[in-house]
Amino acid sequence: EKGGYDHFMLKEIYEQPNAISDTFRGRMRVDEGIIKMAGVDDNLTKLLNAKRIVIVACGTSWHAGLVAEYIFEELVRLPVEVEYASEFRYRNPVIHQDDVIIAISQSGETADTMAAIKLAKEKGAFVFGVCNVVGSSISRETHAGAYTHAGPEIGVASTKAFTTQITVLALIALKLAESKGTIPKSDFHYYLQELERIPEKVKISLQSAAHVKSIAETYKEAKNFLYLGRGFNFPVALEGALKLKEISYIHAEGYPAAEMKHGPIALIDEQMPVVVIATKKGHYDKIVSNIQEIKSRQGKIIAVVTEGDVTVKELADHVIEIPETEEFLTPLLTTIPLQILSYYIAVMLGKNVDQPRNLAKSVTVE
Ligand code: F6R
Repeated sequence: EKGGYDHFMLKEIYEQPNAISDTFRGRMRVDEGIIKMAGVDDNLTKLLNAKRIVIVACGTSWHAGLVAEYIFEELVRLPVEVEYASEFRYRNPVIHQDDVIIAISQSGETADTMAAIKLAKEKGAFVFGVCNVVGSSISRETHAGAYTHAGPEIGVASTKAFTTQITVLALIALKLAESKGTIPKSDFHYYLQELERIPEKVKISLQSAAHVKSIAETYKEAKNFLYLGRGFNFPVALEGALKLKEISYIHAEGYPAAEMKHGPIALIDEQMPVVVIATKKGHYDKIVSNIQEIKSRQGKIIAVVTEGDVTVKELADHVIEIPETEEFLTPLLTTIPLQILSYYIAVMLGKNVDQPRNLAKSVTVE
């Protein structure tokens, strides 16, 4: 059932090229330059007239929501807010009838997300669901939606659900951007082609596994980890830290790289591994100076870089290369080595990777 892998988590990490293809198969027609998604097409006017998008979710799904915030704002030029469902539901939030709420949930059963949806519906908003489990409670409660089609995710730590959520949300953003004319037609076509190439590039990213495993060996005894990223990859830093915490029980924090100097930099010494996402297009020069700040305090730098990188390679203790892609799609690649790193550290520490202590696959209580 684990298909020859030691754990479901590893199997699911390796399923990502296919899972992402399954997510856009039948929806994205690159040659014709169209995206067809029933849930979006049937409600296009509502979505196009939205004054604001509010995303509600928990955990890893909330991180996918944060990536979507950057993508929607960049491509569709719409204001987006991303809320923890648990905070949103208890806060008497300001919701207008021309708000579109997007609820993201792998299981489709998360109690807080469900309650947030009910609240938004009461206030007259249109609620769109992004779920993985077909026929789940959330998929039935929402007005419309799009499934991720990632297939069953058994490992408690979410992996392929995250990358397929980002894929669905990117498809929706592209579709709206094209309809609204917020991106040129030529860019739209180019982005579809780039998205189509992602599964192949995820495969290439997976090839760094042996190298990542050796990095895991080096740092498995560390007591703390810091994860840094900027822009589209700030949420990936949060997700990388969450993965490590969940399955290896090592304390880890994710931060936007520039926030480091407002506090966390005090933690940096030769004991502190710092994972930095430093891809070419994403504020590269800024990230390079953040890396220099870490280095001058003897922090150990593990950098995820674009293949062919020269500058970061000279500064970092370890680099992990990923293929180049359009900036808004980089989270689909930068996430891969971070999943693998947490997986191997947990395995080396003898932890129960698929069923970490205190965690459940779906959180149906608040
Ligand atoms: C992280 C993880 C949790 C879930 C969260 C939301 O690896 O598994 O943080 O992401 O409980 O679950 P869903 O997406 O099912 O609503």
